[in-house]
Amino acid sequence: MIKVLFVCLGNICRSPLAEAIFNHKVKNLGLQQKLICDSCGTSDYHIGELPDERTLACLENHKIAINHRARKLNRVDIREFDYLIAMDQSNKENIEQLIFKNSLKHNNVYLIREFQPDTDNLDVPDPYYGGQDGFENVYQILDDSIDRFLEHIKVEHQEYV
Ligand code: 4NP
Repeated sequence: MIKVLFVCLGNICRSPLAEAIFNHKVKNLGLQQKLICDSCGTSDYHIGELPDERTLACLENHKIAINHRARKLNRVDIREFDYLIAMDQSNKENIEQLIFKNSLKHNNVYLIREFQPDTDNLDVPDPYYGGQDGFENVYQILDDSIDRFLEHIKVEHQEYV
């Protein structure tokens, strides 16, 4: 199994969207036995909560299912997951701090938009303080960047996926 963890701040908007989109694509590719993912936040603001209503509405519009409760990133995740994929630079810094504080190492910490070749802005914008259209914008960014990320995984694990 290749294990992917998507990370944002609250784990109710961006990273649950990423998790749901990734799972949907993996299912369509028939790779459920090879690739799994989860999502979490770097804060404790929303632990135990369902995704934001606007996240759920966005996924429903795209006919994609989700089953997730918010949780906080912890040091076991660093050992557990092969890829740690942050939504924005501050999430990535928080992941790197946790790795450093626990004297751990990880070779695969990325921003999801690093996999998009033609973008100047490497952050997935935080849609929390905006409207439903911000969530659709995040969806479109993740739909493309996750396709690119899956291509990256295929190249890195050619014999496997
Ligand atoms: P997320 O969005 O990190 O994409 O889940 C946010 C959710 C909650 C808050 C900020 C961003 N908050 O401040 O509560």
